[in-house]
Amino acid sequence: MQIEVIASVNEARADKFTHRTAIVIDVLRATSTIVAALDAGAAGVIPVETVLEARALHREGQLLAGERFGRKIPGFEFGNSPEEFGPGAAAGKRIVLTTTNGTRAVQKAMRADHLLAGSLLNATACAETAVLLKRDIVLLCSGSHDEFALEDGLCAGLFISRIRSICPSGIVADDLGIALQGLYDSAAERIGELLFSGASGKRLVKLGYGRDVEYCGRVDLSRTVPRLSGDMMVAG
Ligand code: MLT
Repeated sequence: MQIEVIASVNEARADKFTHRTAIVIDVLRATSTIVAALDAGAAGVIPVETVLEARALHREGQLLAGERFGRKIPGFEFGNSPEEFGPGAAAGKRIVLTTTNGTRAVQKAMRADHLLAGSLLNATACAETAVLLKRDIVLLCSGSHDEFALEDGLCAGLFISRIRSICPSGIVADDLGIALQGLYDSAAERIGELLFSGASGKRLVKLGYGRDVEYCGRVDLSRTVPRLSGDMMVAG
């Protein structure tokens, strides 16, 4: 099984995903929020690229959520904080979500045979699912401002490490994947702390979302694996 890592959404080309399983990673915060919303009982999350699309798709009874540059979008009911979506708010609802990078990355990976949302929160469950799907894997790190983001790279390294422990032989990662696994292996005990030292973590703290950074650093808090079904991510 081959594993390729794409460093940021900016580098994602549609043809990279054909016949593969894509795991889209946006630790801070889109894919962590999708996991949290499904854990809170949401019926599904519809990831869309633009604010206009989100408004156009939104139907009565659904929740409209998202951020631009970290801040809640004016007129939207929810931002992009994972803990906003408690069972009281999300249970049984469909959530239309647009974020600066994460939901854009999901759109880029649509050609994949299987599309999963990965984060630190659901790392082991997501790695196990990807292995069971028996395709080569592309780890798409969403990044931030079209550039690589530390937390997504650490998460990609964690995925490769988990996949290798599930399948001790036959895993071939590309050079970036090998580097990121090395990074993860050397930092595994300090993941939560490292999230605060990257640019996205610092930006979120500045905006008052330090709690989200802490929450998103909890490895294996969840067994939920969001999976694209039609235009909606549902709990797999
Ligand atoms: C994104 O999609 O860029 C992130 O989720 C950004 C954020 O939550 O601030």
